[in-house]
Amino acid sequence: MSDVWGYPGRRVIVTGAASGMGEATARLVGERGGEVHAIDVVPTRIPVTGYLQADLSDPAAIDAAVAAIGQPVHALFNCAGLPPTAPPLQVMLVNFLGLRHLTETVAPLMPRGSAISCIASVAGMLWQQSLPAVTELLDTADMARGHAWCAAHPEAVNEGYSFSKMCIIVYCMRRCQDLARAGIRINSISPGPTDTAMMPHFEQVAGKQFMDDFPRPVGRNSTPEEQAEVLAFLNSDAASYVTGTNLYTDGGFTGSLHTGQLDFSALTPAR
Ligand SMILES: NC(=O)c1ccc[n+]([C@@H]2O[C@H](COP(=O)([O-])OP(=O)(O)OC[C@H]3O[C@@H](n4cnc5c(N)ncnc54)[C@H](O)[C@@H]3O)[C@@H](O)[C@H]2O)c1
Repeated sequence: MSDVWGYPGRRVIVTGAASGMGEATARLVGERGGEVHAIDVVPTRIPVTGYLQADLSDPAAIDAAVAAIGQPVHALFNCAGLPPTAPPLQVMLVNFLGLRHLTETVAPLMPRGSAISCIASVAGMLWQQSLPAVTELLDTADMARGHAWCAAHPEAVNEGYSFSKMCIIVYCMRRCQDLARAGIRINSISPGPTDTAMMPHFEQVAGKQFMDDFPRPVGRNSTPEEQAEVLAFLNSDAASYVTGTNLYTDGGFTGSLHTGQLDFSALTPAR
């Protein structure tokens, strides 16, 4: 029987592999036979085939890291991200524009059957309401022009984090057709509250009470390993017909909200 879940013989890139969901993903994919190349600003704590120090807000650093890894690349896991406590333009650069630059740089190195998965967030769930602004940013040609667009549209970018996640969701949907012609799949996941180093930053911005009261239909936060399992599935052959999808990995939050089982309006973030 073929191992559709496995990564033997596959060269993969994991961003944000030094912590949280990226670290859990790098560990899991390595255990499943993948050759893991980690990209992060800080060194990884777990053994990987290669660690490339790169700041995703810097396109030259991204290009150098990808050149050092070389081809082929069979799977890309875009896990790195900045929390909403960072300045909005920096959040946009790292969470979306750098993710896009890396993805567009790596895609030509991917043979047919490869896949890309990205971490968005439930924070991006209102992407349909912001589609015109998201589309304008997605239409920018590169990081510099994307950055200029963000600087000129503070009302759309707002605090940065939610808009960056909307952009990831729509970017994966928009790129699925062209990438499918090259035999490459692309998807995103939208986790709910997950126990990582980022959690205190959400509490700082939205308030501890808001995060404590945030609806959790399954009764607890996610672990980073639970999110890693879904990312590993999406980039495996087990998901060979899944592309252009955003998967809500939020323990039932969005499903409950969309069916009127949660009254989110009663909850107000501190800011
Ligand atoms: N924790 C949550 O509740 C939650 C919920 C939904 C989505 N997310 C998203 O999940 C992803 C993973 O976050 P996490 O919760 O594991 O947080 P984390 O802070 O544990 O990990 C983030 C990683 O990204 C790296 N990183 C940050 N800036 C970088 C840069 N400029 N260049 C390269 N690497 C950089 C960090 O060094 C770190 O290793 C992020 O995109 C985050 O927005 C988190």
